[in-house]
Amino acid sequence: MFREELLAFPAYSPGKAAPQDGFKLSSNENPFPTLPSVLAAVQGVEDYNRYPENGAGTLVTRLASIYGVQPENVVVGSGSISLLLQAFLATCETGDEVIYPWRSFEGYPSTITVSGATKHPVPVRPDGSHDLEAMAEAVGPRTRVILLCSPNNPSSNVLHRDEVERFLARVPENVLVLLDEAYIDFVRDSEAVDGLALLEDHPNLVTMRTFSKAYALPGMRLGYAIGAELPIRAIRAAGLPFNVTSAAIAAAIASLDARDELMQQVETIVATRNRVLAGLVDQGWDIPDPQGNFVWLPVGDAAVSAGEVFERHGIIARVFPGAGVRVTIGEEASVEPLLAAAAEIIAA
Ligand SMILES: Cc1ncc(COP(=O)(O)O)c(C=O)c1O
Repeated sequence: MFREELLAFPAYSPGKAAPQDGFKLSSNENPFPTLPSVLAAVQGVEDYNRYPENGAGTLVTRLASIYGVQPENVVVGSGSISLLLQAFLATCETGDEVIYPWRSFEGYPSTITVSGATKHPVPVRPDGSHDLEAMAEAVGPRTRVILLCSPNNPSSNVLHRDEVERFLARVPENVLVLLDEAYIDFVRDSEAVDGLALLEDHPNLVTMRTFSKAYALPGMRLGYAIGAELPIRAIRAAGLPFNVTSAAIAAAIASLDARDELMQQVETIVATRNRVLAGLVDQGWDIPDPQGNFVWLPVGDAAVSAGEVFERHGIIARVFPGAGVRVTIGEEASVEPLLAAAAEIIAA
């Protein structure tokens, strides 16, 4: 009665809570508490007896004006992951393929499977970066979508603008390229790709962004995509009506009003990231250049035991058995135990 591929998903296991006096550095969240102005905006919503604005037009218009595009070029959804699902539903029929880098964001394979499309993972290079050459070669007659992730989760390194341009030149125009830029606000590499700058020349490119990371609203579930009118219309059409709540719309608008304050938080996180990186390099770690709000320790088979070392130091990190450990850049007070755990792991 139920689709076998869905029942084959591992049973839901809730993430571990932060230990007492410890740190949850496993979900790439923003460590700063929700801004008072955002809380006030949410409290100011009074008409929960009414449906929210369908299509979240006020928020869409605001995002369009910030990014210098038209409202027709923007769609919002319940987290960027739901927009990924909508994009697959909008493009793929049974047997059609989505090419994606692997290892990358864990939400990709599951969302592709839910949509009914066929997964076509292309292994990343040893440093965790996309193998764009292999991804371009993987394109076949059933390819409908290609996912790119910059900064990549979990390796945290970016794609560079020139390599993405060369890649796009090779991809047929009838293949949709989704550039997932969930962590773009943390990027400081001046060569890094910025999807917005490429949209004009590439109508098959859509950039996916989120309020969950730099804008510190993962609990509100809000993401958006920007691109040419046609793909955005198709992605919008594949979504459920009213899929963004009144509370989420109010929180997002208040967050955009507080952009300077939030970007100051991002600066602090970037400065902490730089200190963590310097500490790790001093210890002898050779890790991909972190450009997201997280670092990747590619310890391979030692991942599970490394996760245990972090736990002993009061840190819940994200363990990818057989591959490595991803650690979010969090509270200032987490830096010392993070580096102490890392020193112990590299010594072992
Ligand atoms: C690369 C990447 N894309 C998308 C998402 C999902 O973001 P959202 O909360 O907007 O669904 C995440 C969440 O961790 C992510 O790491």
